[in-house]
Amino acid sequence: MVNLGEIFPTFAADTTIGQIEFHSWLGDSWGILFSHPADYTPVCTTELGMVAKLTDEFKKRDVKLIALSCDDVDSHKGWIEDIKTNSGFSQDWPYPIIADQKRDLAVKFGMLDPDEKDDAGMALTARCVFIIGPDKKLKLSILYPATTGRNFDEILRVIDSLQLTATKRVATPANWTSGNECMVLPNIPDEEARKLFPNFRKQDVPSGKNYMRFTPQP
Ligand code: BEZ
Repeated sequence: MVNLGEIFPTFAADTTIGQIEFHSWLGDSWGILFSHPADYTPVCTTELGMVAKLTDEFKKRDVKLIALSCDDVDSHKGWIEDIKTNSGFSQDWPYPIIADQKRDLAVKFGMLDPDEKDDAGMALTARCVFIIGPDKKLKLSILYPATTGRNFDEILRVIDSLQLTATKRVATPANWTSGNECMVLPNIPDEEARKLFPNFRKQDVPSGKNYMRFTPQP
């Protein structure tokens, strides 16, 4: 298991684009590693198609995508044709899929879901999302059960927040989307906040405590 802020360890893997070493493949980009229970399963098929259709949005944000599923490369390659047909995505397949048929990575990164087993009774991977920064540190992890497909608009929203807050001293409130008001970090005194965010505003609260401070997105 990797905790937030720790280096996401590199690994070697067989993928649909050949053998990769994760950190070299990532280079200086942001990365998303998202896992799937198995090939030729319905929810996964919709997810991979959705991600393919959002490729340009991830590219704009300099995010590289890599999927993982507990089957081999040949199986992944056959499955990609189904995913393309199902989603209507007709271009060259835009991101690699890792073959983790022995569950080595699933075990290493704590992805296994004990409730989901293959025909041989072996646990499959859950739906993990790991977002890794250009510094190779884990910035976010989310774990969904196999029966709940992910919302990739939310993953894009999260990327926008992570990339903004990596360089600006703000946090993003509930349901924030890019361009909306942000919050001044609680550890910044008013005087400094005034210099950093000349248009910041305070919202009075019954406690009289001074922590609800909003600023236009810097
Ligand atoms: C699916 O991707 O549809 C799926 C996989 C395993 C269990 C349940 C659903």
